Amino acid sequence: MNQITALKDIMNKSRIIGTGSYLPERVLTNNDLTKLVDTSDKWIIERTGIRQRHIAAENETTADIAYQSSLRALKSADTSVKDIDLIVLATTTPDNTFPSTATKVQAMLGMKHGAAFDIQAVCSGFIYALAVGDNFIKAGQAERVLVIGAETFSRLLDWKNRETCVLFGDGGGAVILSKEKGDKGILSTHLHSDGRYGDLLYADGGPSTTQSVGLVKMSGKEVFRHAVVNLATVVDEALAANSCKRSDIDWLVPHQANLRILSNTARKLGLSEDQVVITVQHHANTSAASIPLALDEAVRDGRIKEGHLILMEAMGGGFTWGAALVRW
Ligand code: ACO
Repeated sequence: MNQITALKDIMNKSRIIGTGSYLPERVLTNNDLTKLVDTSDKWIIERTGIRQRHIAAENETTADIAYQSSLRALKSADTSVKDIDLIVLATTTPDNTFPSTATKVQAMLGMKHGAAFDIQAVCSGFIYALAVGDNFIKAGQAERVLVIGAETFSRLLDWKNRETCVLFGDGGGAVILSKEKGDKGILSTHLHSDGRYGDLLYADGGPSTTQSVGLVKMSGKEVFRHAVVNLATVVDEALAANSCKRSDIDWLVPHQANLRILSNTARKLGLSEDQVVITVQHHANTSAASIPLALDEAVRDGRIKEGHLILMEAMGGGFTWGAALVRW
């Protein structure tokens, strides 16, 4: 063991000790969408891989979805809310302009101590929230962090625009981070943004501009092009930071935007498709929720095992993008 490895092993690390996720009950299939816009099941599957999405019930909010995901994560970690110091919730679709949805979830969980706040990085939100939780633990400011990605993205969709309404859905996922020492846990996180590209993917509203929420506007081809380049770059950055090779990766758990983006990233990494956790077909793009949804599925069905090297990556509006490398 060299000195750097030895040092890394005695430093605080955060380890994911539990995962949970939740999808609203109502399912909207591609065929259902053909009644709203001029599209087809064939077009959506061929261009995106998406077969269906879940849509929140009328009175169901992002906080409700986050709360359900959190209960499942707490249960799988066999931990109580009493032990949680911090809640970091990534969302683009908060219940209210303020207060944060994280504080709402804190109240729903009956948690009266600690701190809670939201993170806004659209589809990269979960990676951003994970990085914040990880850094709080590394800095010694928290010991157990509940990190959530939850969205009611359907509320931002223009249901007359076939170029966007077929791509997104609602859902949530959560993980519990715990302070640990040793070689397992989050090895590193890598965050990027470039605000020059804000007008390629945005919602055309906001409290300070239109006093309305706005609807999603997207230049799909441009987003696709940037996603493929930025994701390949940040993935290599994460591997290089840990002296790992592409062939060391056991599982890629990517943001679930589009099957073609996932396949492209996997091909660039030299990974076979069966090393990629793919869930986009049954919940579409759930923005900040998609990585914890996919992670939870692969942990629960036993694909992800202790000791595996897991690479998570995401790209979203802003543009924002990032990656996290985890030794499970
Ligand atoms: N059904 C049927 N036809 C459609 C639909 C639809 N839902 N949407 C667009 N079309 C038509 C277009 O009008 C166009 O018709 P035309 O040739 O007569 O002009 C044709 O299909 C081709 O459209 P393109 O935009 O060229 O289709 P493309 O192959 O680029 O696929 C898509 C579009 C799926 C949006 C793709 O560009 C994409 O996936 N981009 C990334 C977007 C994304 O993932 N955004 C999520 C947020 S960011 C993130 O999470 C990474």
